[in-house]
Amino acid sequence: MAKPILEATAILKRAAPLTHQTAHEIQPFGHLIRMPLELSDQTCKDSVENLNQLLADTMTLRDLYRKHHWQVAGPTFYQLHLLFDKHYDEQNELVDKVAERIQLLGGVSIAMAPDVAETTLIPRPPKGREEAPVQISRLLHAHEIVLKEARTMARRAAERGDDVTNDLIVSDVIRRNEFQVWFVAEHVVAMPPLQAE
Ligand SMILES: [Fe+2]
Repeated sequence: MAKPILEATAILKRAAPLTHQTAHEIQPFGHLIRMPLELSDQTCKDSVENLNQLLADTMTLRDLYRKHHWQVAGPTFYQLHLLFDKHYDEQNELVDKVAERIQLLGGVSIAMAPDVAETTLIPRPPKGREEAPVQISRLLHAHEIVLKEARTMARRAAERGDDVTNDLIVSDVIRRNEFQVWFVAEHVVAMPPLQAE
C-alpha cells in the first residue's frame, strides 16, 4: 500500500522547534513545596528565607570579585588579578550550594541580577574603576556583611533542627569567607616594601 504523501509545509511544521511558549509559573517565589525531609514547614520556610538573603549577598560578593579582577590596576596588578579570580570561583561554588539547598528545602532560589540587586545588603559600588586599596576595602566590608548574617543564620538553623543548613553555612560559607578575608586583608597592611623601619 502506498504511503500517504505529506505536503512539504506540513513536514517542515512538524520538524520545527516549538518556540515562544508561555504558561503559568509552576511555583511562585516565596511559596514552599512540602518535601519529605522530616523538617517542619516553619523550619523549611525560615531556612529558605535566610538562605535567599545569604544567596543574594554571596552573588553580589562574587560579582564584586569579578569586577575587581577586571578593573584592578597598579604594581600588585598580577597577584590581585589572580587572587580576585580565585575568590570569584570559590564564591561561585558557594552560590550553587546555597541555591540548591533552597530548592532541596522546597523553596525557590533567587537567580536573576535585578532580584539580587533589590535583595542584597552589600552597597552598590560605582561603575568606574577604583584604586586597589579601595577595592579591597569594599571586598572586606562585603565579607563582614556575609559573615555577620551567616553566623546568626547558622545558629538559628541549628536551633530549628536544620543541621545540614547549619553545616552548609558553617563548613562552607563561613569557613571560605574567613579564609578569603585573611588573603585579602593582608594586602592592606602597611609594611615597608624594601627596608625595615
Ligand atoms: Fe579573567
